[in-house]
Amino acid sequence: MNTYEKDQSKIQIHLQDICRRNISRLQNLVNQVMDYHRYDQKNVKHYTLEQINDIITEVVQDLSPVAYTQRTKITCDLHKNIPMFKMEKESFRRVFLNLLNNAIKFTENGTITVTSMFQNKTITISFKDTGMGISKDKLTHIFEPFSCASRETKGNTNGSGLGLSITKKIVESYGGSIKIDSHPNTGTDVVVTIPITTNQDEF
Ligand SMILES: Nc1ncnc2c1ncn2[C@@H]1O[C@H](COP(=O)(O)OP(=O)(O)O)[C@@H](O)[C@H]1O
Ligand SMILES: [Mg+2]
Repeated sequence: MNTYEKDQSKIQIHLQDICRRNISRLQNLVNQVMDYHRYDQKNVKHYTLEQINDIITEVVQDLSPVAYTQRTKITCDLHKNIPMFKMEKESFRRVFLNLLNNAIKFTENGTITVTSMFQNKTITISFKDTGMGISKDKLTHIFEPFSCASRETKGNTNGSGLGLSITKKIVESYGGSIKIDSHPNTGTDVVVTIPITTNQDEF
């Protein structure tokens, strides 16, 4: 291969990389937009009896390699008394994937602590990180779709800004709530609460 051909092949590899990244971003955005609208269509859900700790564990296992590349350690403190309840498993997987993904994305060389507990008929799950935190300004609009995509921070471009609004929709569809406590340069604590009704037949 002569120098010209070598240069051409380098350019091709570079362009392929750019294409791949953009396709993946677009795929991500399409998935998130579809998810966002799916949650308005109540009839497509499939409920099964699940243990929330198992879903958290799966998600932590899936994302640990990504945290590792950021030199961030994930610690779990999952209480054993969490009752199983009827849910659409995929929706909770999405919730935890998004929250843990955010914690990893905005934490470098830090720690993330995932906690679950059950008290007063309520399951509380917290994702606490020691990352860059969120400004008060941003925090006010954080659950609005597209309000703060991650490209605004750190040059990180793989966020659509839809994750938290989808997460909130899902959590609220179970009668639950989501709260974020965050301080710039200190970290963020995202707390999800789900009330557990003794009569689960309505699902
Ligand atoms: N754990 C966190 N630490 C710092 N900033 C966060 C965290 N979670 C969310 N954010 C901020 O909230 C924004 C919106 O999050 P999200 O709705 O999940 O969208 P995305 O991750 O696609 O940007 C992020 O872009 C980021 O600015
Ligand atoms: Mg996100």
